[in-house]
Amino acid sequence: MSKRIGVLTSGGDCPGLNAVLRGVVRAATNRNWEVIGFHDGFEGLLDPVRYEVLDLKRTAGIMPLGGTIIGTTNKGHFIAKVGEGAKTTVPQHVIEETKRTLATLGIDVLITIGGDGSLTTAQQLFEAGIDVVGVPKTIDNDLEATATTFGFDSAVACVADALDRLHTTATSHKRVMVLEVMGRHAGWIALYGGLAGGGDIILIPEIPFDFEKVAEAVRQREQHGCLSTMIVVAEGATPLTGGPQVREQAAGEYKLGGIGETVAREVAARTGKETRTCVLGHLQRGGAPTTQDRILGTRFGVKAVELIADGQFGHMVSYQNYQVLAVPIARAVHRLRLVQPDSQMVDTARAVGISFGD
Ligand code: F6P
Repeated sequence: MSKRIGVLTSGGDCPGLNAVLRGVVRAATNRNWEVIGFHDGFEGLLDPVRYEVLDLKRTAGIMPLGGTIIGTTNKGHFIAKVGEGAKTTVPQHVIEETKRTLATLGIDVLITIGGDGSLTTAQQLFEAGIDVVGVPKTIDNDLEATATTFGFDSAVACVADALDRLHTTATSHKRVMVLEVMGRHAGWIALYGGLAGGGDIILIPEIPFDFEKVAEAVRQREQHGCLSTMIVVAEGATPLTGGPQVREQAAGEYKLGGIGETVAREVAARTGKETRTCVLGHLQRGGAPTTQDRILGTRFGVKAVELIADGQFGHMVSYQNYQVLAVPIARAVHRLRLVQPDSQMVDTARAVGISFGD
């Protein structure tokens, strides 16, 4: 039976979103189904309703594009989660308006591509009687329900590239270089990027660090004759005393930032070494996806269409043991996957001399 699918991208963008959209459109087209892309996340569902038909022509050549061709937002009327831990619910009138839009456009099912907050919203819509299918998205790679997410590999590649570049200038000047990277609750980007880019000290939210231990690691490298030291610090990394460094707070939502500068200041004061900071910021979220993210995004998009064909609504695609499977969205949200301090990855990093400042 022919279907009309709605799809939207919600929350912070990341490389690979367009690969998912392309995968959805191609798999749907193979079944003679039609795809409607709502603009700017869930917001496009509300008056003035904003959408476009996504077909083979519209999605041709989008695989290497960063961002999302249908736009996204991490603000608006559908915020189902505000800040860490705190939750709000999508108001009933917003849900009713969403239902009206979907009915008017004859949309059978809504594919929601988004992170924990957006999937929480999707679950609420599902509980309100809307057929939804989820595709997990987070650059931080911190969703428990999927072994990995697209966008993460591209972010890691960006961090490794930045470290390669910073390494040469730091060595020329015999400096300590601090690179602040994304990772609110989880240190995956810092850990993988730091390992790939030859970082010497990696500071992540899961392993509280001691400034003196960080300084000691810098001194030890100097004693070994190393000319520079590369420190990678996740934005959510926390010193032994005090919480994560908050740059801005508004309406319950907070933005992290500044920990790199703090680490640089402390290291310079304790070691006397010239120290510089670089905040990588949204460079990690932009640009072309890596081949891995293109493939994962495509697989997620295709699987989302399969879930619709199988009537597995209220489920999201999930990568596990080299397979893309389905898990109930309700069981997937609010569960973060953090770096385990006693894991093999951390042990490997320590084995090559990386300090975690603990
Ligand atoms: O959660 C993903 C993330 O990229 C975080 O690592 C970062 O703190 C945040 O989003 C940045 O959000 P914004 O684009 O709204 O500044």
